[in-house]
Amino acid sequence: MVEEHIEQVTEAQSIMAREKEYVLQNYARYPLVLDKGKGCYLYDLDGKKYLDLISGIGVNALGHGHPRIVKTIREQAGLMIHCSNLYYHRYQGLLAERLAKASGLQRTFFSNSGTESMEGALKMARAYGHKVSADKIEIVSLDNSFHGRTMGAIAVTGQPKYRKDFEPLIPGVRFVPANDLAALEEVVSEKTCAILLEGIQGEGGIFQMTQAYVEKARELADRFDALLIFDEIQCGVGRPGTYFSYQLLNPVVLPDVMVTAKPLACGLPLGAICCNERAAPAIGPGMHGSTFGGGALACRVAVEFFDILDELMPSIQRVGGHFRCELEGLKSKFSFIKEVRGAGLMIGAEIDFPGKQLVVDGMAEGLLFNCTHDTVLRFLPPYILTEKDVDKAIKILAKLFKKV
Ligand SMILES: Cc1ncc(COP(=O)(O)O)c(C=O)c1O
Repeated sequence: MVEEHIEQVTEAQSIMAREKEYVLQNYARYPLVLDKGKGCYLYDLDGKKYLDLISGIGVNALGHGHPRIVKTIREQAGLMIHCSNLYYHRYQGLLAERLAKASGLQRTFFSNSGTESMEGALKMARAYGHKVSADKIEIVSLDNSFHGRTMGAIAVTGQPKYRKDFEPLIPGVRFVPANDLAALEEVVSEKTCAILLEGIQGEGGIFQMTQAYVEKARELADRFDALLIFDEIQCGVGRPGTYFSYQLLNPVVLPDVMVTAKPLACGLPLGAICCNERAAPAIGPGMHGSTFGGGALACRVAVEFFDILDELMPSIQRVGGHFRCELEGLKSKFSFIKEVRGAGLMIGAEIDFPGKQLVVDGMAEGLLFNCTHDTVLRFLPPYILTEKDVDKAIKILAKLFKKV
């Protein structure tokens, strides 16, 4: 009787059951077990094909199984995966040089994730402030922001739901509404050691900071000798159609510090804090470090990615523009779509009801995307997405929307 029952359990069900028994239940996963991918497509255990418009939440920048990334990983894995930061290897300096050229910020520290980059940037801000005075400790951050899950990162995340279970958090964080110049001016003072913002808020629903706002933040950071920190973890490294979202501005407004991660090593964990020579001296020898950060394998893959990214930038702009335009077309047909926002291949469509069911229905139709901030359908596809892929996605979305 029992054996008969076991035979009927599918592989997917048994994988999910095992996780339920042994894995911390902190993720509300969708009931989908993915097995492999090729280009912009993923396949589940039964071989069902999905167009991947979320790419591991903005991570798999070159999709799945990109031949140059696979070749690089194979080669480097056979040579040396990791040697620690006790020694030099070929690729950390090379990647830091690429980042400096792309970002306009001279120095890089390597970490393994977004939140770890954020922690390092917060330490840099506090250390910078301490050099001026003991009470220069305040960090100004924005409502609706998201900066990661570690203690420092949640302390500067402007969404109470991420903070409430873990208080008390680091003191001295002041939140202000995004794009409100007067509110920012009111809160920044001699006590401020950093102003922190996402050029385009991601988890917060794909909201871009205005030119005037970023300029005001830069001006206030200069006036009060604070660091201007941009969180480019979701909106950077090519995703907005420029290397970093602040390069969408005209004129460009440079931060003192910029943190990045997600797409940097095309799926391998790698993060970075890039900073200028004003911020860099805040962190001296022994003040910060990371065992895994900047390992040979991840850095070499990221260098390879940068070579490919140079060529992909026009396509990110073009295909992203096509995607937004097609979504605008759907907006004119379906009145529940309130707004289409974004830049490059970071796109949100705000609807007037919770979008979770649409995400589930999309999975059934072979389309992967997600919903953030309850009502914003979010698309962070691989940078290799084509117009043809977009047209396919739009057809499926139109079908889903018709059923609403
Ligand atoms: C803007 C932003 N900052 C920080 C993070 C945290 O990154 P990670 O999950 O790699 O720690 C994220 C993740 O979604 C993010 O979007």
